[in-house]
Amino acid sequence: MATKFPRPWAWALYLVSMVVLTPPRYCSSVRIVPPAVFVIGGTLVDAGTNAFLPNSTAIAANFPFYGIDFFDSVPHGRSSNGRVVSDEVARRIGFEMSPPSYLSLVAGGYPSYKFNRTITSRGVNFASAFSGVLSSTGRAYGQVVPYPEQVRQFSTSVAGNLTAVLGQPGSANFIRQSFFLFSVGVGDTVEYIQNLTAGRPYYRSDDLFLDAFISQFVGGLLDLYAVGLRRSGIVAPPPIGCLPYFRALNATGGCNARANSLSQAIYQRLTLALRSLGASAPGLIYAIGNTYRFVSDLLAFPEGAANCGLKELRAPCCGNEATPCSPTATLCRNRTEYWFWDQYSVTEYAVGLLVEAFFSDNADYVSPINFGQLLIKY
Ligand SMILES: *[C@@H]1O[C@H](CO)[C@@H](O)[C@H](O)[C@H]1NC(C)=O
Ligand SMILES: *[C@@H]1O[C@H](CO)[C@@H](O)[C@H](O)[C@H]1NC(C)=O
Ligand SMILES: *[C@@H]1O[C@H](CO)[C@@H](O)[C@H](O)[C@H]1NC(C)=O
Ligand SMILES: *[C@@H]1O[C@H](CO)[C@@H](O)[C@H](O)[C@H]1NC(C)=O
Ligand SMILES: *[C@@H]1O[C@H](CO)[C@@H](O)[C@H](O)[C@H]1NC(C)=O
Ligand SMILES: *[C@@H]1O[C@H](CO)[C@@H](O)[C@H](O)[C@H]1NC(C)=O
Repeated sequence: MATKFPRPWAWALYLVSMVVLTPPRYCSSVRIVPPAVFVIGGTLVDAGTNAFLPNSTAIAANFPFYGIDFFDSVPHGRSSNGRVVSDEVARRIGFEMSPPSYLSLVAGGYPSYKFNRTITSRGVNFASAFSGVLSSTGRAYGQVVPYPEQVRQFSTSVAGNLTAVLGQPGSANFIRQSFFLFSVGVGDTVEYIQNLTAGRPYYRSDDLFLDAFISQFVGGLLDLYAVGLRRSGIVAPPPIGCLPYFRALNATGGCNARANSLSQAIYQRLTLALRSLGASAPGLIYAIGNTYRFVSDLLAFPEGAANCGLKELRAPCCGNEATPCSPTATLCRNRTEYWFWDQYSVTEYAVGLLVEAFFSDNADYVSPINFGQLLIKY
């Protein structure tokens, strides 16, 4: 049977709509697909590191119901029902998902000959859930890989192998074009508040804590800069006091005010620190994702959140405010209506909304440029 051609007026309407309704397309800048992604940080971006640490079974996220919505419904050590922030950022810049964890590459599960192929085609994820920028953060939960160690894993072993494979100028260029994703601040702040609550403060003031955090973060960033880092997307912490874990500790179910003010302070300190790097790191380009602002806006405008499909912004989907996610925990009925997945981490659906904000042109949520603009050719 012959296909019916649309009538001429239908074509005319179509053409008019193309002209009238479609914004003109132009290419004001050429964006690169980075050769690799390197991920550093904690819970929001870990893609399986802790599962390779013998003493981290409780925080490895490699048991149900983690991963229930991942492509194969298998728990892969991601703190979510599916994809985490590193997966979504990697997807938006041309990869399928986050690169594999460094420990999976060196510790087994992955034959060593694949190591070089992976680092030169996808990158590496060093992030470790519950770790911090400060070396001691997370120890109370088990073994974690702290930020300074993650930085060393890149700047010594991975950069060394990149040079062995690609040669000196080749490797430097490769690292310069690669996308570095950081997610920092949550683990350290949670532990700082825990220490205060337990009456065992380790830092004498919020400012001293913030000073230590920022100087350690910038130190690591400059170490990475020295081996070639240029394009860096930094995810600043959410309102940490509104994590279900903290709401459970407040008789009224409210957010922990001090944790929230520290979250805001970390965003401001990161912004100032990076702005003032200037001359010490020429050519460094960065974007800071203001997770605090995005989540506060959702909490302040529940009808706006509902427009995005979110109905529950406080309770986690798996377990509850006071109960961790586990194979015997209760699971919510509709995972795309929940912001939180467990006491500390967010659902795959929330990840999608958050990362979209980092690629948007809304300067409230990402600045001085967005994550996509980090890939402008230069
Ligand atoms: C793991 O935990 C056990 C018991 O707490 C402890 O004896 C052991 O030293 C830990 N191992 C590592 C590598 O931290
Ligand atoms: C390459 O990576 C392996 C595994 O991490 C490490 O042991 C080795 O030292 C690295 N080689 C170089 C040249 O840096
Ligand atoms: C990567 O390749 C380099 C150069 O061929 C080699 O020296 C190194 O051992 C390889 N690394 C691993 C971990 O296989
Ligand atoms: C919390 O207290 C422990 C034990 O004193 C200490 O090692 C750690 O550095 C403290 N962490 C923070 C973030 O204050
Ligand atoms: C508990 O929540 C209330 C709001 O419901 C808030 O005013 C209060 O500061 C919170 N407590 C702490 C310790 O932050
Ligand atoms: C889950 O919630 C979303 C948003 O409210 C809705 O569009 C979807 O149909 C729901 N799914 C199920 C299985 O109920």
